[in-house]
Amino acid sequence: MIPVRDKHILLGVSGSIATYKAVALASRLVQAGATVDVMMSEAATKMVQPLSFQAITHRVVLTDMWAQGAETEIGHVTLAKAVDALLVAPATANTMAKLALGFADNFLTTTALALRAPLIVAPAMESGMWEHPATQQHIATLRQRGAWIVAPEAGYLASGASGVGRLASEAQILATVAQAMTAQDMAGRKVIVTAGGTQEAIDPVRVIANHSSGRMGYAVAEAAARRGATVVLISGPTALSPPPHVALCRVTSADAMQRALLAELPDADALLMAAAVADYRPAQAAPQKIKKNDDELLLRLVRNPDLLMSVKAQKPPQLITVGWAAETENLLANGRSKLTRKGLDLLVANQVPQSFGGDQVQATFIRAEGDEALPVMSKAALSEKILDEVVRLWARANDNA
Ligand code: CTP
Repeated sequence: MIPVRDKHILLGVSGSIATYKAVALASRLVQAGATVDVMMSEAATKMVQPLSFQAITHRVVLTDMWAQGAETEIGHVTLAKAVDALLVAPATANTMAKLALGFADNFLTTTALALRAPLIVAPAMESGMWEHPATQQHIATLRQRGAWIVAPEAGYLASGASGVGRLASEAQILATVAQAMTAQDMAGRKVIVTAGGTQEAIDPVRVIANHSSGRMGYAVAEAAARRGATVVLISGPTALSPPPHVALCRVTSADAMQRALLAELPDADALLMAAAVADYRPAQAAPQKIKKNDDELLLRLVRNPDLLMSVKAQKPPQLITVGWAAETENLLANGRSKLTRKGLDLLVANQVPQSFGGDQVQATFIRAEGDEALPVMSKAALSEKILDEVVRLWARANDNA
């Protein structure tokens, strides 16, 4: 769920073939707990009836600045000062030009001029219009002024041609709205997150796997990207969709995860090792499918490398490392010994099977300064707490430098 609960979002809609997609965006924002006011340009009202938005937001849709009573119901200047963000989606070339040049000839552009909150612009247009130097210049102006641009995607366009100009995906737009309202306290930092369980081949069709769902690591990666970090997510096989604004690297075995991890390590500022790495793998993966000839089958397993130990051996000085420990007994004692042995700055310990698969988790932070048992919370909320610790550790390292 996008973190927009209790936020007040103004959705500015201009007239494009993609206008209908703004109805779904409004719906997603409302479902996520935001209050959504909608302003439509005149052209937008020709594509979609204001009633569609009204039915979803349960609020008056602002269309005509000159209509009787328009300014008595909701003052647009008041609104511009009250909202947490203005999302313009879809933004036509015309509306974008007006926003860049500071025109104020309708509700949307007038409000944008009085806005004090973040502006997010999601353009949609025909590819020739998108590529035109005028449009590109307006985009550059908006960016330079601090607006968040959700670049359009390449694909099928209403003209029948293919090219860049399609409105970005709902997920991209909503993630950018959430990011625009979040303090960018991880900006300029590179963060590696590992997630999911590794799989070790027995033969071409069978693997040794574990119950890790990958949710913890995916939640951390999503939160770090929202806080402005450049995120590389190295993931074992999972059923999850990759979070927006994250570079995903899919791997299968512990060995492959180690190679990907060490390649990304030299310029990383933090490693969050949420993956459930298999400790053992079959000594030899059979080249052909193993047939069931005998009553018993013995598999000889050999130790996998410990990825955190290999990181410890070549740890770049700036790196903060966070490990997880899923334990069935002696949570704190086992956790503390893992913290030292693996050279971690923070260990997130939790009791299995409670932490596996579900969304709610009770974790204990184990660190040099002392332990902290956290209340039960969602993996998304826990991710924020973990990242707060990482940011605090970066600040402390800076102070000591
Ligand atoms: N880990 C790792 N490489 C491995 C196994 C685990 O880097 N081969 C990491 C995990 O990603 C996690 C931390 O080490 O962040 C602790 O994982 P856990 O399985 O609890 O620890 P183990 O060292 O495997 O200890 P044990 O299984 O003996 O409890």
